[in-house]
Amino acid sequence: MTRMKLQIINGPNLNLLGVREPSIYGKCSFDSYYQSIQSAYPSIDFDYFQSNSEGALIDKLHEVGFQVDGIVLNAGAYTHTSVALYDAIKAISSPVIEVHLSNVHQREAFRHVSLLSAACRGVIAGFGMDSYRLAVEAFVSNKE
Ligand code: DQA
Repeated sequence: MTRMKLQIINGPNLNLLGVREPSIYGKCSFDSYYQSIQSAYPSIDFDYFQSNSEGALIDKLHEVGFQVDGIVLNAGAYTHTSVALYDAIKAISSPVIEVHLSNVHQREAFRHVSLLSAACRGVIAGFGMDSYRLAVEAFVSNKE
């Protein structure tokens, strides 16, 4: 049986998880969370990519988006601004789940709109780091 391949992609400012606004985003670094999620799903091949640049995120989607079984994408603030990321998600064949640590709908009005959701398989927001695990779980149970 072939192993499931999942790509996790984090966008701008998410390299500062654990340091950045901990009252909103928590005190855990993504690196330590990434280790725990890999241990929790030993049968899945994970890859992790983070960039603060919109173009680098698009390049990564193009690179992996015809190979992996699923992409867990937290595009950070580009969620609310990027037609180019929307087009990139539409252009690839791997399904994408949009995730957010915070419940964006409880926050500033500019965070209530996602330009990406319509291109994504689904959206998970508001569960802190657990949002990523819930997205992985959705891929596992939907076997996409
Ligand atoms: C975020 C929410 C975005 O509005 C914000 O710009 C982020 C993080 C989240 O995970 O809650 O950078 O995507």
